[in-house]
Amino acid sequence: MQTDIHKQIAENLTTTVLMFNKDFRLEYINPAGEMLFEISARRLKGLSIDELFLDVEKMIERVKKVVQNAQGFTERELQITLPDARTIDVDCVVTPINDPNIANALLIELIQMERHLRISREGNQLTQHELARTVIRGLAHEIKNPLGGLRGAAQLLEKELPNKALKEYTGIIIGEADRLQNLVDRMQGPTSLPQMETINIHQVLEHVRTLVTAEVSNNITLVRDYDPSIPDIFADQDQLIQAFLNIVRNATQAINETGEIILRTRTARQFTIGQTRHKLVLQVDIIDNGSGIAPELIKSIFYPMVTGRPEGTGLGLSIAQSLINQHGGLIECTSEPGQTRFTILLPL
Ligand SMILES: Nc1ncnc2c1ncn2[C@@H]1O[C@H](COP(=O)(O)OP(=O)(O)OP(=O)(O)O)[C@@H](O)[C@H]1O
Ligand SMILES: [Mg+2]
Repeated sequence: MQTDIHKQIAENLTTTVLMFNKDFRLEYINPAGEMLFEISARRLKGLSIDELFLDVEKMIERVKKVVQNAQGFTERELQITLPDARTIDVDCVVTPINDPNIANALLIELIQMERHLRISREGNQLTQHELARTVIRGLAHEIKNPLGGLRGAAQLLEKELPNKALKEYTGIIIGEADRLQNLVDRMQGPTSLPQMETINIHQVLEHVRTLVTAEVSNNITLVRDYDPSIPDIFADQDQLIQAFLNIVRNATQAINETGEIILRTRTARQFTIGQTRHKLVLQVDIIDNGSGIAPELIKSIFYPMVTGRPEGTGLGLSIAQSLINQHGGLIECTSEPGQTRFTILLPL
């Protein structure tokens, strides 16, 4: 009975477990390990540790010492080469087994690092974007002051002009200054901290849907796929409307003539955003069947001033990301022609 349970545990773990005998030959490997090596347990059994892991002599030496002095160790971010020449990054835990009754001598656990990497990459990406935004905010600030002066002077000039026909020119200066002012305001991004209150996510999405429906032709359908059981969230309603509006507007612009945009809400369990692990998060997907994001753009669309549209400013997504970050959330994106999906995750 006992061994059955232990076997079941080992067989169902998602990390790789290897058991070696005192001659460093493989006695047991669990299914997660078979998947990692892409070789069946039957064929792996009996192989020596040096055959299983190539070019980690140092570690293997250390492993062999483990058995002599009966002390295990953990090696993080180790790169190992598998028999088929694939290299993988793992955290590796080596534990000696000192039971004279059994022939097995050594337990090795391998935890593949993809998940860790993804999390740190998110962190990394966020810092880079934050940096770019800081530069752009600074730039916007520097443009603002002289721009105000320019506009004020043009207004004074307009009043003094003897010839009415010349007002056309001052009009252009004032008009363009206003346009630039608008752009600079957007470049500065969200200037206020979120005013948090309990709000319903569907109210936010419905508001966005109404606004966008009024803007686009009837050929674009906005489909609602809501999970009504989602609890209220603690957030700034106006900021979330702005963020979702930017994303949904992009979707309408990617649809050439006719198309569909799905607004989907769900909850997801056990999700890590940045460094924080959440038991429950709200997941909103905005899916469109438009042209898709150009492959050369996809890595940089969240950077400020990156655009694929001739009349775009490239600020929409950068602002959306700032707003969602301020709420402790995350935006992800996948795209191929005919299907683009923006996923917004917010802690619940
Ligand atoms: N749903 C989508 N489908 C296809 N491409 C998209 C989609 N969303 C964004 N993009 C691409 O990402 C680019 C950046 O989007 P972003 O909203 O940041 O800027 P913009 O739309 O160009 O300008 P702005 O929103 O400031 O007016 C877009 O120009 C477009 O090329
Ligand atoms: Mg946009």
